Formats: sequence, C-alpha cells, structure tokens
Amino acid sequence: MVKNIYLIGFMGTGKTTIALQLGQQLEYKVTDLDQEIEKKAGMCISQIFSEFGEAGFRHLESEMIRTCLKKEQHIIACGGGAVLKQKNVDSMRKSGIILLLTARPETILGRLKNDTTRPLLNGRMNKEYLEKMLLERSGFYEYAADVIISTDDKNPEELIKEIMNFLDDNRILEPMK
Ligand code: S3P
Repeated sequence: MVKNIYLIGFMGTGKTTIALQLGQQLEYKVTDLDQEIEKKAGMCISQIFSEFGEAGFRHLESEMIRTCLKKEQHIIACGGGAVLKQKNVDSMRKSGIILLLTARPETILGRLKNDTTRPLLNGRMNKEYLEKMLLERSGFYEYAADVIISTDDKNPEELIKEIMNFLDDNRILEPMK
C-alpha cells in the first residue's frame, strides 16, 4: 500500500484545498508543508523570505520534507517549489505517490490576483510572469509526477472524484499481496 499522497504543483493550483478534502474522503491525516514550516519558524512565509532569503526557506522546506519519510497515511500538500530539489523528490518517491495539479496561467491569476502571501509573486502578479515561471518549472513538475491532474474549469468535488477514480483504478491504496 502506498504510504502517503503528495500533492505538488504551481502556486494556486489548489493543493491545500484538495489535500483537506481528500484527507476527509480517505480518512487520512493532512499535512500542509508551508503551514508546518511557518509553525516551526514562528513566522509566516513572507517573513522567512525577507529574513533568510529564498535559500533559507528552501533549506527549511527540505528539512520538513525529510520528516515526511516517517509519515504514513498522510496527504501532504507541498509548496510550489518543493520539487525543484532532487533530494526532495527522492524523499517523496520513497514515501508515497506524487500527484501533480496543474492550471493555466489565466486560472492561476484568477485565483491569486488579490493574494499577498506569495513572496515570489509580489509585484509580479501578471500573466507574462506566471507563464515564464511555469515554463521554467514545468519540467520539474512533470519529472516528479506519477499522475497529472488539470484543475482548470473543475470544482473541488470534481477533482476529488477524478483523484479517487485514479487511486481506485490503479489499486493504489490496496494492501500489497
Ligand atoms: C512557493 C510556493 C508557496 C510557498 C513559497 C514558495 C514556490 O507555496 O512554498 O511561497 O516556490 O512556488 P504554495 O504553492 O502553496 O503557494
């Protein structure tokens, strides 16, 4: 049986929302890595970026992902940059299955346009910049993913159904014989 389910994908693809609903559906615990990092650091993500820089944040992120190796039956919502480091992807692979949520730049912009909690998008919340970042990252996301689920034009209920079908069809949560 697969130990954990990791949700990866760009900012604004719905990882946190889907993790909560999938956790309820499967009766799995839910871990949101960014929230855990904030708890551990005692400050919000934007403060971590401004105090320690992106490199400092990435270090905390890798540490937090490593702690997931010990988890079982968790849905783990990862930050959008979690798969940029190979060692993080290795940890995820060892301890679970990796679901990639995707969305078009327009969809992401619609979801995040009033958001101020993502330091990488501060002052750059526009379609051109999102396209550029998505292009730079798509290889990392696709390389890490066991399955790709587009979230465009779908509500959370539809997405949960799609994910449950995938898990059932591939017998991912059944005990191994
Ligand atoms: C980041 C995504 C954020 C958070 C941080 C960096 C990224 O998480 O980890 O701001 O590099 O894409 P969400 O994807 O949950 O917004």
